[in-house]
Amino acid sequence: MSVEATPAFGLADDLPEEERLAAADERAWLELLARISRQSVTKHFQAYVDVPWDDPTFAIDASDPRFALPETDPLGATAWYRAQPEAVRARIGLHMLASFMKTGVQFESTLKRGLLEYASQLPNGSAEFRYLYHEVIEEAQHSLMFQEFVNRTGLPVDGLPAYARLFARGLPRLARRFPELFFMFVLGGEDPIDHMQRCELLRGERWAHPLVRRISQIHVIEEARHLSFARAYLRRNVPKLGLVRRHLLRLRTPLILGNMARMMMQPSAQVVREYGIPKSALREAYRGNRVYARARSEALGKTRALCAELGLVTAPYTLVWRQFGILRS
Ligand SMILES: [Fe+2]
Ligand SMILES: [Fe+2]
Repeated sequence: MSVEATPAFGLADDLPEEERLAAADERAWLELLARISRQSVTKHFQAYVDVPWDDPTFAIDASDPRFALPETDPLGATAWYRAQPEAVRARIGLHMLASFMKTGVQFESTLKRGLLEYASQLPNGSAEFRYLYHEVIEEAQHSLMFQEFVNRTGLPVDGLPAYARLFARGLPRLARRFPELFFMFVLGGEDPIDHMQRCELLRGERWAHPLVRRISQIHVIEEARHLSFARAYLRRNVPKLGLVRRHLLRLRTPLILGNMARMMMQPSAQVVREYGIPKSALREAYRGNRVYARARSEALGKTRALCAELGLVTAPYTLVWRQFGILRS
């Protein structure tokens, strides 16, 4: 249904209060869909048009010191990391970046399949259907970018651990059966990626590789639309849930958010093995480290605020939020 076709338009003053609010909600929802669909047409990027892969200044050299983790990074600040030769520090930073991008490819694969599954049940003329297809197309371009980056590093990169890949296989079905939980999963992946890429851009040109900056710029611009959609979807639909689904959402949301933040923000098991990162360095970086706790909490800040607004962060479920260290910054 288009914005113009909303039947309540022009009649709003004659409707009872409740119906008037519902009509206003519907209008705001359709306006959002129209706006982000329009933006997807006028401001979109293509992996092999908008990234100058073969520009010599965009080439990847694993010993490039710009890939080294800064001292503000939890692992980058450890004594073990600082004691490594400069080339090894750079290679570890690049390997972590490539793992992060591979995780992005795997996350977006699940996301695209879920969005298609969800869109498959929408009726003809649905404005949501059109927007979701724009998002699927954009995610496919992102995955092309991320995978091309991984390929050009020449490093062996697995991304998600096997158990997470197995778990992800069931998620697209969730998009049709329990879309509110699915879109929470979407935020759990998109928000930390978005946050980390914004931080990368804030590091400034001198400290960041131009290829990484370009990928981050493109991704941040397009993800803003995806995040707007997922948040608006949850604001619109979570309040309509019954008791059982609301309980499930309250319980599973911190599990999803906590696990995803951990997978996106800590080195993969493969990186730990490859460079022999000792347990003591991992403990120093990620357990009881205030810098890491703050970074993890900030990466999920917007999603946590939305969950609080939707009444999902309440006792006794706060115990699970605390367990994952994602309750507050
Ligand atoms: Fe993306
Ligand atoms: Fe996205």
